[in-house]
Amino acid sequence: MKLAVLSGKGGVGKTLLSINLSVIFAQEGYKVLLVDANFSAPTVATYFKTVPNTHTIDEALAKGATDLSSLVWIHPSGVHFVTPSFNLVGLDDETLRNIFTLLSPLFPNYDFVIFDGPAGVEKDAYYTVLHSDAALIVTNPNYPALYNALKVNYFVQAMKKPVVGAVLNMVTGKDEVSREEAQAIVEAPIIGEIPYDPEVKKAVNAGQPVVLYNPNAPASRAIYQIAEALLGRKLRRKPRGGGIGDIIKRVIDWLLG
Ligand SMILES: Nc1ncnc2c1ncn2[C@@H]1O[C@H](COP(=O)(O)OP(=O)(O)OP(=O)(O)O)[C@@H](O)[C@H]1O
Ligand SMILES: [Mg+2]
Repeated sequence: MKLAVLSGKGGVGKTLLSINLSVIFAQEGYKVLLVDANFSAPTVATYFKTVPNTHTIDEALAKGATDLSSLVWIHPSGVHFVTPSFNLVGLDDETLRNIFTLLSPLFPNYDFVIFDGPAGVEKDAYYTVLHSDAALIVTNPNYPALYNALKVNYFVQAMKKPVVGAVLNMVTGKDEVSREEAQAIVEAPIIGEIPYDPEVKKAVNAGQPVVLYNPNAPASRAIYQIAEALLGRKLRRKPRGGGIGDIIKRVIDWLLG
């Protein structure tokens, strides 16, 4: 299954969801390739506190690499990922076509290929959807993000690919659009809601996916549920839930500010 994680607006949580879903799927025993397909603003590697100067998509393109394994990075979670460097600029159609031609032979080696996609519906999104089996749309519960998520939904539908649903991220439950209204606007089933959670930023600063940094964080629990919705079954490796250890950790975190 090749899944494109897309959004209308930027900064809504695509990379958060792509990385953490990839980790959960790898924990479940699947072979997972995470592709940083946000070629104009890549962030996957930086989420892992890595600055990729070599073993990158653009390096392989320039060298005409035939040994694709040299550009596959392996995260300790078991997730494999590929990334451009920050030198990749000037994304024309030919470059985008060449990138996917380069990467495509890798895809059959994996159970899941997750594309951490770009925001919007420009040509980078077009090529990502073209090479995906389905799309998952991420949005925040506000009108600008939701209506642009609808635009992504129409874009994917126009390309005759299925949209498996939408995820609401950074939900606070205050002064924002309800789940029901969000679903009506996006015209896609809301398959999960991730709360706004300060643990996410702590995890990013630590260079770790939040589901590993704190499996009991509210955001982690929500992402586990989204993984279950996508797999259509309960996870084998769920976090041990919210016991006394978790409560003590929260109190310590709170005391430490
Ligand atoms: N549920 C959340 N709670 C708190 N912070 C969050 C949450 N989700 C995302 N963030 C933070 O918001 C920022 C944007 O998230 P992320 O990078 O996943 O968005 P994106 O859609 O991939 O952005 P871009 O369009 O730039 O690729 C990051 O700093 C991330 O740590
Ligand atoms: Mg991103």
